[in-house]
Amino acid sequence: MGVLVGERRLITAALPYINNIPHLGHIVGSHLPADIFARYCRLKGYDVLFVGGSDENGTPSELAAEDLGVNLNEFLDKMYEEHKRIYDWFCISYDNFSRTSRKIHHETTQEFFKKIYENGFISVGKVKSFYCEKDKRFLPDRYVEGRCSKCGYEHANADQCEKCTALLDAEQLINPKCKICGSAPIIKESEHLFLRLDKLSNRLEKWLRENKHWRPQVINLALGWIKEGLKPRCITRDLKHGVKVPIEGFQDKVFYVWFDAPIGYISSTKEKKPNTWEKFWKDKNTKIYHFLGKDNIPFHTIFWPAMLMANGEFNLPYHVVGLQYLTYEGGKFSKSQKRGVFCEKLPKTGINPDIMRAYLTFLIPETADTEFKWTDFQAKINSDIIGNYANFINRTLSFIYNKLGGSIQRPPESEFTSSDKELMKSVRKK
Ligand code: MF3
Ligand code: ZN
Repeated sequence: MGVLVGERRLITAALPYINNIPHLGHIVGSHLPADIFARYCRLKGYDVLFVGGSDENGTPSELAAEDLGVNLNEFLDKMYEEHKRIYDWFCISYDNFSRTSRKIHHETTQEFFKKIYENGFISVGKVKSFYCEKDKRFLPDRYVEGRCSKCGYEHANADQCEKCTALLDAEQLINPKCKICGSAPIIKESEHLFLRLDKLSNRLEKWLRENKHWRPQVINLALGWIKEGLKPRCITRDLKHGVKVPIEGFQDKVFYVWFDAPIGYISSTKEKKPNTWEKFWKDKNTKIYHFLGKDNIPFHTIFWPAMLMANGEFNLPYHVVGLQYLTYEGGKFSKSQKRGVFCEKLPKTGINPDIMRAYLTFLIPETADTEFKWTDFQAKINSDIIGNYANFINRTLSFIYNKLGGSIQRPPESEFTSSDKELMKSVRKK
């Protein structure tokens, strides 16, 4: 272990959606780089906490469980175990891997929200969405289908047409049908809560520009959104499953999943360190590092920092490490097309996790997308890991065995030459 250097580092990996099995792209896009950084920081002697957890609220889990015809909680429990098994197989050194379905997370989210509300960063507005009078529920976008008003495709969803990719509003879907019962849903207006991103735009921009150590592509994306203009963003949904909104008149709604999920970083810290969690979030001597994939960049550079600013009690992220994508043998990973390595299969392959980690480490898509290729896997492991690294260790150990009788003894201080001392100093240098 290194010397304690008085700095604390909270490291997070994006909370994976629980409804699908992670593939290699998820591993290289957040868990693995966060893990490597956490291991490095521990060795350096920082006070490190590496947290994560599963993102379990919102429509995707409800839909996945309903598709399989299983009870939602049983589905979530099973998937959580599956995820955990995979990160354990990869030796991801989480100090805590929590769940956003836990009580501690629901309470933390509600408290966090109340503070934002008291601080005047929440407004009320009307939103139009589909409501099925037969099922007596608001329908999530994927529960409604109809004809696309742009291209005529018959199976467009309420928010987007898969065929022409047009983004649709409820009113732009012709002949909408409820996918549960087949009847025609009505459009109902209901009141929702909005986070006043518009009020925070200047502060966000100033803060983003101060973060000179971020990667240019992350900063540029974020500044691009600021330039387009930030509007209040709806943070509630008419769903059953999720964190309940704790104010009068909104108790039958839940928070939008992107509102509660990042608060999962805080609840995971709290769960692990019930007495000392605050020093990881409020002490100025702590740096917060978030690791995440490209599609999560807007949420971590704009939405989440805005939530933190509106709340006012927590540190802002010190670093948002946004990674690019991993492709698989020339294309995208796709569960439905059975393309790519989905991680539940890995333990059975007999591949050593360290070997897989080593290859994936070469592939971490830091500045551009990278590609997983089995022939390249073979070549890299044979040349870099076995040919260079293992060979170097093997030679060193053989040398110690053959020439030094199997042990190295530290010579007395008086025998060190000045170049020995120089060398030792440079090795110890931070
Ligand atoms: N569940 C999201 C995804 O897999 C990531 C959530 S990250 C958090 O893309 F910040 F919300 F936690
Ligand atoms: Zn269309």
